[in-house]
Parts: sequence; structure tokens; C-alpha cells
Amino acid sequence: MRILAIETSCDETAAAVVENGRRARSNAIASQIEAHKLYGGVVPEIASRMHVEAICAVAGEALGAAGIALQEIDAIAATAAPGLVGALLVGLNYAKGLAYALGKPLIAVHHLRAHVAANYLSDSTLAPPFLCLIVSGGHTHIVEVLDYTTFRVVGRTRDDAAGEALDKTARLLGLPYPGGPHLDRLGRGGDPNAFRFPRPKVSGNPYDYSFSGLKTAALNQLRLKPESSLLNPDFAASFQYAVADYLCRNFLRAAADLGYRGLALAGGVCANSVLRAEMKARCEQQGLALHVPELAYCGDNAAMVAAQAYYEFRAGHLAGLDYNAAPSLSIEETL
Ligand code: KG4
Ligand code: ZN
Repeated sequence: MRILAIETSCDETAAAVVENGRRARSNAIASQIEAHKLYGGVVPEIASRMHVEAICAVAGEALGAAGIALQEIDAIAATAAPGLVGALLVGLNYAKGLAYALGKPLIAVHHLRAHVAANYLSDSTLAPPFLCLIVSGGHTHIVEVLDYTTFRVVGRTRDDAAGEALDKTARLLGLPYPGGPHLDRLGRGGDPNAFRFPRPKVSGNPYDYSFSGLKTAALNQLRLKPESSLLNPDFAASFQYAVADYLCRNFLRAAADLGYRGLALAGGVCANSVLRAEMKARCEQQGLALHVPELAYCGDNAAMVAAQAYYEFRAGHLAGLDYNAAPSLSIEETL
């Protein structure tokens, strides 16, 4: 089954063709980063407009790169929640138009479920159940993937997402938006123990996170020392190590308590080299199987949306043409 998927939940206009949820035939992305850089973050109105401008060309590129005609597509999918509502509407309505014109099924996909499904593209043998750590710009979740379309959140951040903490700290150092990848590059070769950061505990759930304290600790270091002394590999390495160590601790504790031996990472922040290395080393030490998406499928892309769409389709989850986008919706709820 060939699915053409559209992703426009934030600042990437993306389209992809994937076969049977596993084999990506194409993965086209038009990034808006340059436009938003000027403002230090995503401007929703600009994002929506740029999606409108790019969507037709990006979808055409995905079909062209796959060498597949529109008539050969079996279903159309789009990210419908969560995200910037104006941005989501562009992709969802474009997908509705295509589905209606072609007389093909429409599949609405949850963005975080799609991030999890990025793992199916990189590892054709991976199948639920497994425990997944989703770390993106807007979300930090520990999720039980019970089957392809059944999820249970066992831990989450109480405030900032991990990506937000990385981006805001990078911004304090004067690094451009989005700061995560810049911090990653700056920290290469730095000493991860040169600066100390807390591992905040939150009451009520041992797997929950709080990243705002880490961000404030970075701000306090900045107040104590001049910015120039912090714009160095040691500070970047230490902050990333603190984030990675904190993510690993709660995630591996949840895995041990819940009895999972198969684990996966998902979301833009799982492109981070420190997190990938730390998690891999600790899983190897504990004899746990760790799945990590290829870098191309970590950040927002449409191939992961098509992968999840395949499983939503098989579960009978189809959307009507009256389907609406939802800016916030739990991963546990079926669209
Ligand atoms: O999943 P994603 O592309 O978009 C959302 O759904 O939010 O995640 C974006 C986040 C941003 O915070 C970005 O800085 C972060 O992923 N990110 C990284 C790296 N690459 C992307 N953070 C740290 N290191 C990286 N290499
Ligand atoms: Zn995302």
C-alpha cells in the first residue's frame, strides 16, 4: 500500500511516499528556518503562509522523487494534531482536497505517534510493544507503545520540553534558532563535567520531568559569569550531558519498573549526539535493545507520518472530509 503523507504542524512543509509503513520511497522537506530565525522562534502566521506557498511544490517533489504518479497512490495522510492550528489546517485541507479529487481514503495522523513510527522506517523488524522516549521541541513523553495504535503515557514534562530547554539555553548564548543543533556542534570535544546542573525531581510521578529548573540554572551561570566565557565547548557539553543524563535516568527507571527490554527514541531532540551516545551506552550496559531513528527521520518529516498512517489505516481509523485539526490532543486519543 502506497501512502502520500503531508506534514505541516510547525515550520517544515513536508511530503513523502511510503510503502506499507516501512519503505520510504521519498521524503521531501522545505524548511522555513531562515524565515523564523529573524524572530528567534516560529511565528505561526508566517508559518501558515509559507506552508500555503510551498505545499504543492513539495508534494510534487515527493511524488517525482518516488517515481510514482498521483493515481498510483492508495491513500492520502496528513498530520492533524497537535501543532500550530493554522499550519496544521494547510496540510490537512490540502490532503482533503487530494483525497476527494482522487476518491481515495483520508487518514488523519497524530504528530507524536508519527515521531514514534519514524523507528519503523529505520528498523523494518521493530514491532510493539516497546517503551518510547519522545523528545521534541514541544513535548517530552515516556510512552508505552502497546500496539501500533495504542499508547499509554507513563511520564511527561511538567513544564518545558527538553528541546525547549536546549533551544532557550542556546539562545542565552547568542546561538541562532533553533539552538539545539548549534549547541550539539559547539559541545563536541567539550568537558561534560566542567559545569554542574541539577536533575530536578517532581513529586507524584517518578518518571515525570521538569526542565525549567535546568534552564534557570543555565541562566544563573550566565549571570555569574560573562557570556563570552560560557560560549565554549565545556558549557555546551555540560548542559547537554545534564539533559541527556536526566532523560536517560527516568526513562531507564520506567523501563526497569515496567519490565520493558525493547526501547526506542523519537523526536527532533533524539538527533542529539550526546543523548544518542549516552542512551546507547547505558542500554548496552543493561542488555536492553535500543532503537533510534536515522537522523533524516528524527526531526519533522512526512515519511514518519505515512508510516503511522499505514497502521492507522489497518486499524480502520479513517477521517471524513469534515475532519478538523486539533492544536492539542493526547497521543492516547485516536484521531
Ligand atoms: O520533533 P521536532 O523536529 O519538532 C517538534 O515536533 O517540536 O523537534 C525540534 C527540536 C528543536 O528543539 C531542536 O532544537 C531539536 O529538536 N533538535 C536538536 C538537535 N536537532 C534538533 N536538539 C539537540 N541536538 C540536535 N542535534
Ligand atoms: Zn515534531
